[in-house]
Amino acid sequence: MRFRTRWGVVLGLAGFGLFAAGCGAQTTYTPPTFPPGNAVAGEQLYTTTCAACHGPTAEGTSSVAPPLWQQGGVSSPNYSSMTTLTAFIYQNMPKSAPGSLSKQQAADVATFVWGLDGKLGSSTASQMLGMLTKTSAPPPATPTTTVTSSKFLSVNTSAKTATLSLIAGYNTSNDGGFNFDGGYDGNMTVTIPVGYNVTVNFKNSAQIPHSAAVIGPTGNNATGPIISGATTPNPVLGTAPGGTATFSFTPTKAGSYRIACLFPGHLVLGMYINLKVVSSGTPSMS
Ligand code: HEC
Repeated sequence: MRFRTRWGVVLGLAGFGLFAAGCGAQTTYTPPTFPPGNAVAGEQLYTTTCAACHGPTAEGTSSVAPPLWQQGGVSSPNYSSMTTLTAFIYQNMPKSAPGSLSKQQAADVATFVWGLDGKLGSSTASQMLGMLTKTSAPPPATPTTTVTSSKFLSVNTSAKTATLSLIAGYNTSNDGGFNFDGGYDGNMTVTIPVGYNVTVNFKNSAQIPHSAAVIGPTGNNATGPIISGATTPNPVLGTAPGGTATFSFTPTKAGSYRIACLFPGHLVLGMYINLKVVSSGTPSMS
C-alpha cells in the first residue's frame, strides 16, 4: 500500500525515457546491475544514514519517512525484486542526498531492508530487527578478555583459556634449580577453574633432564599424569636440557593437584608446584 505510486512513477519515468529515445516497442525497465549485498554492512549504513528519517528501528517517522517493514509480514509490495529495491535506493535515497550511495552501499542496505521486510523469511526478518534494536541500545561494556595474572600465566576469560609458561630450573632455588618458575615444595599455586583449557609451554632451563606432569596431591611415586595428556612426553625420561614441550588439558574435576617433575628422585626433592582446580572463577597464579 505505502508509496506504491511512488515506485510506479519511477518505473513510468524509466519507461518513458526509453520510449522517448525512440524505442517504440514495449520495453521493461532494466535496473543497473549491483554487486551482492552484505546485510551486516547494510545495517551499519542504515543506522548512520537512514535511521534519521526512517527511525532507529525502521518503523518510520510520521510525516518524515515511511516505515520500511511491518509487523508480521511483507510490507513492500512496491518492489518486485531486491534489484528493483536496490535501484530505488541507489537513485533516490537518502532523500537528503540522492545518488550519494555507491552501488555496493545501495546493495548492502537493500539486502538489509529486503530481509527486514520479511522477503527472506520471518526468521531473517526478526534477525535483522534484532540487529537494529541492538544498535539503538547503548553498546554493552566490552568484557575484559585478557588478564595477566603473573608473568608466567596469561588468561583469556571469554575463550576460557589459560597459558602457563613453565620453566624448569628457572633460577637456583631448591638445591640449585629443582623448581618450576622459581617455585618448589608447593610454595607456588596455579589456580584454574573447571572447564578452562590450559596450555603449558614447558622449557627445561637446567643442566639435567626435567619433565612436568599433572599428578595427584600426595605421594612421590607417580610415573604419569592423573589427567590424560597433561604431561610432557616421557615424563620419567624427562626433556633434555634446553628442550621444550607443549601440552594442554582441560580439568573437569575440582580438587588439589600438583605439577611435578617425574624424573626419578626430583619429586622427592620437592620439584613441584600446586595446581588448584576450582569450580568457578578466574585463573590465577601466586
Ligand atoms: C531525509 C530523510 C530520508 C533519509 C535520510 C532516507 N530516506 Fe528513505 N524515504 C524518505 C521519504 C520521504 C520516503 C518516501 C518516498 C519518497 O519521498 O521518495 C522514503 C522512501 C524510502 C523507501 C521506499 C519505501 C516504500 O515503502 O516504498 C525506501 C526503501 C527507503 N526510503 C530507503 C532508504 C534507505 C535505505 C535510506 C538510507 C540509505 C534512506 N531511505 C534514507 C526519506 C528519507
